[in-house]
Amino acid sequence: MSPRRIPGLARPAAVSFTFEGEALAAPAGEPLATALACAGHAALRASPAAGTPRGAFCFMGSCQECLVLVDGVPRQACLVPVRAGMAVWRVAL
Ligand code: FES
Repeated sequence: MSPRRIPGLARPAAVSFTFEGEALAAPAGEPLATALACAGHAALRASPAAGTPRGAFCFMGSCQECLVLVDGVPRQACLVPVRAGMAVWRVAL
């Protein structure tokens, strides 16, 4: 089960972006890791050693488990605010 946003809270308008080519929408400024998790994408990369799925863990920039490519640049998804038009991809290891 994917995490859900708390209903009834005021949020900025949703903007569109893509993850692995899939069109998604999330409130502008929401942490990208949160937006991806709420869209059902908790696994953001694979462990280099075992190939097991890895995803956001600390949500504060410490663990590096949320590394993705944002418009071609490696970024920690928990530290990147969602903005319109961003193209997000998993990092190939
Ligand atoms: S979730 Fe730990 S660095 Fe992003």
